[in-house]
Amino acid sequence: MEKSLFLKTCAGEVTSTKPVWMMRQAGRYLPEYREMRAKFPNFLEFVANPEAAAEVTVQPLRRFDLDAAILFSDILVVLAPMGISVEFISGKGPQVKSPVQSYRDIQGLSTFDSSKELAYTRKAIELTKQQISKETPLLGFVGGPLTVASYAIEGQTSKALAHTKRLYYQDPGAYHEFLDKMATDLGTYLSLQADWGCDALVIMDSWAGALSAEDYQKMAYPYTQKLISIAKKAGKPIIHYANGAGHLIENILQLEATAFGLDFRNDLSATLNKNPNTIFQGNLEPALLFAPVETIQEKTLEILEQVKNRPHIMNLGHGVLQETPLEGVQAFIKTIKNYKA
Ligand code: CP3
Repeated sequence: MEKSLFLKTCAGEVTSTKPVWMMRQAGRYLPEYREMRAKFPNFLEFVANPEAAAEVTVQPLRRFDLDAAILFSDILVVLAPMGISVEFISGKGPQVKSPVQSYRDIQGLSTFDSSKELAYTRKAIELTKQQISKETPLLGFVGGPLTVASYAIEGQTSKALAHTKRLYYQDPGAYHEFLDKMATDLGTYLSLQADWGCDALVIMDSWAGALSAEDYQKMAYPYTQKLISIAKKAGKPIIHYANGAGHLIENILQLEATAFGLDFRNDLSATLNKNPNTIFQGNLEPALLFAPVETIQEKTLEILEQVKNRPHIMNLGHGVLQETPLEGVQAFIKTIKNYKA
């Protein structure tokens, strides 16, 4: 079987048409997603239902000419099996009942067996693979250890990571033990997703950008690298994405990932020029999909021109925004598919 455009790019091949997928391509901007979601008021029950998860994964592929599907799940599904109870409250996002605050809290966490406790993911992967074309790769994912740990420590989304940094500075032993556990558990879970049928793996370190380069190097880098070393054994390409992390690019590029997702704030042409041999992904501003079609075409073409002579994965520079018009998404994808280098 011929390799898909996406996997060719991950292997370093320069293709004339670039592969495209979008972070959060399954989600609330799609009316058919909102309809499914209405049947599952509890988001975690929705994610843990393999039939629903498979259906939602496939929805964006029915509408758009996408080159990859991404498993429908969430980076926070690993918390409950560790003994950290989390709820998704509409309008508020994820809420952890008893945030991790001390060495004792960390000692009390469970070592979980993701092959048992996240067995619904295996079923969702199997059902999804049955429903997508053999040429369409399925992406599995986990959050970065820092990002997932930050939800457990902060108790909710926090862009400043004040409690996480406090734990690190007050009780570095506890912090490092927690992050090490995260790296091991997330790495094991990610490599299982590959064993269960995922063709490529994504690590989303959404809040890495809250750290200075010096802190990133101590608080996040070793654990993301440990996760990668574990997942790498599965032999699948690994894409690393960090948000708001332009100032960390030098550090991040030391990670042993296959390709690197750039957030929309990143100066793409400067980053490409500085790193001629690295495979990147991104980085159209997600809000640009609200603009007139001509503007979307113009900005997408700008990226395509910059990357035409290298392997590159087209994507937004963060997830699709909730109110995004379908015409905007269609214009982005059509521009990529109609482009001739
Ligand atoms: O299509 C896909 O991208 C696959 C599924 C996916 C979801 N979340 C589904 C989801 C993926 C890959 C994620 C990753 C994720 N989850 C991240 C990393 C990427 C990023 O956005 O930076 C983070 C930080 C989370 C944590 C999370 N999940 C938050 C903060 C929230 C609430 C805020 C929000 O957007 O509603 C979620 C909920 C969530 N995860 C939704 C979806 C489709 C919305 C839930 C709904 O339908 O109400």
